[in-house]
Amino acid sequence: MTQPLPKPVSQRPRWDDHAATIVASEPLGPHQKLVLAMPTLEARFEPGQFLNLSVPGHVLRRPLAPSRHQGTEVELIVTPFGPGTRDLVTLPEGTRLQALAPLGRPFPLPEGAAALVGAGAGAAPLAFLAETLLRAGRRVHVFHGAVSGEDRPLVQAVYERLRLEVHYFSQDGSLGRRGYPTEGLAELLAGGAEVTVYSVGPFALMRAAAQLAIGHGRPGYVSLDVHMACGVGACLSCAVQTVAGQKHACVDGPVFEVREVVW
Ligand SMILES: Cc1cc2nc3c(=O)[nH]c(=O)nc-3n(C[C@H](O)[C@H](O)[C@H](O)COP(=O)(O)OP(=O)(O)OC[C@H]3O[C@@H](n4cnc5c(N)ncnc54)[C@H](O)[C@@H]3O)c2cc1C
Ligand code: FES
Repeated sequence: MTQPLPKPVSQRPRWDDHAATIVASEPLGPHQKLVLAMPTLEARFEPGQFLNLSVPGHVLRRPLAPSRHQGTEVELIVTPFGPGTRDLVTLPEGTRLQALAPLGRPFPLPEGAAALVGAGAGAAPLAFLAETLLRAGRRVHVFHGAVSGEDRPLVQAVYERLRLEVHYFSQDGSLGRRGYPTEGLAELLAGGAEVTVYSVGPFALMRAAAQLAIGHGRPGYVSLDVHMACGVGACLSCAVQTVAGQKHACVDGPVFEVREVVW
C-alpha cells in the first residue's frame, strides 16, 4: 500500500542537540555503516537533511546525511576522508556522541518518476530518498558510479533491501558497465523519460548530471558537499555562490535546484 509523501519542511519542528549512541558499526568495503540510537529525536529526518555529529578529539562536528531513519535509529554511511571521519569509523559500538539534528533543507519530492545519480557515500541520502518515493508508489531509476567494484557492498546494503535495480558503472569495467553513471542518465533522458534528476557525489558528477537535466528541460537537485563548521547558519563557513547571490549550504541547502548553482 502506498503512503503519502512527507509534509514540507516549513511544517516540521526545528533542530536540537541530541545524544547519539553507536549501536551498530559494519564495514561496507571502503565505507562504514553506523547506526545511531537517538531516542530524544522526535522530528523525522527527510531525505537530504543531515546531522552534525561530534567526533571525540575533534572540536568541529562533521555533517553526514542519513541513509535511513527508522524508529529511534538513524543509519549513516561514512567514507573515511580526513582525520575526523577516519576516527569516526573506528569508534566501537556503545560510544556516546552528540548530534545537532535534523538540519538543512531536504530534497523536494518529484511529481512523477525520479532518476538518482550517485557515487560513494552519495548513495546514502539518495537511498533514503528512494525508500520514501517507493513507499509513495513512485518509479525510481538508480545509476551508481565507482572507480572499480569497491561500492558493491554499499549498493547491496542501501538499495537492494529496497528491491531496486541499480545500474552500476565502474571506470575500469570490473563491475557493471564501463563508464560513468551519467551515461545511464543520458540514455534515460534521451529516451524521453520525464524524470526529476537527483545527484549526490563528487562535484564533477553532480555538474554533469545537472547539465543533462538542464539540457533536457527536466528539474534536478544536487546536495553540495562543502565544509561546514556550525551547521546551523551561525559561522558562515559554508558559503556557496548561486545565481541569486551568496547562500549558506547548511540552512539554504545543502540541496539546491541545479539551475540555482553557479557551476
Ligand atoms: C550536507 C553534507 C552531508 C554529508 N554527508 C556525508 C555522508 O553521508 N557520508 C560521508 O562519508 N560524508 C558526508 N559528507 C562529507 C563529510 O562531512 C566530510 O567528508 C567530512 O566532514 C570531512 O571531515 P574530515 O575530518 O574527515 O576531513 P577534513 O575535511 O580533512 O577535515 C579536516 C579539518 O578541516 C576542518 N574543517 C572542516 N570544515 C571546516 C570549516 N568549515 N571551517 C574550519 N575548519 C573546517 C575539520 O574540523 C578538520 O579538522 C557530507 C557533507 C555535507 C556538507
Ligand atoms: S556551517 Fe556555519 S553557517 Fe553554515
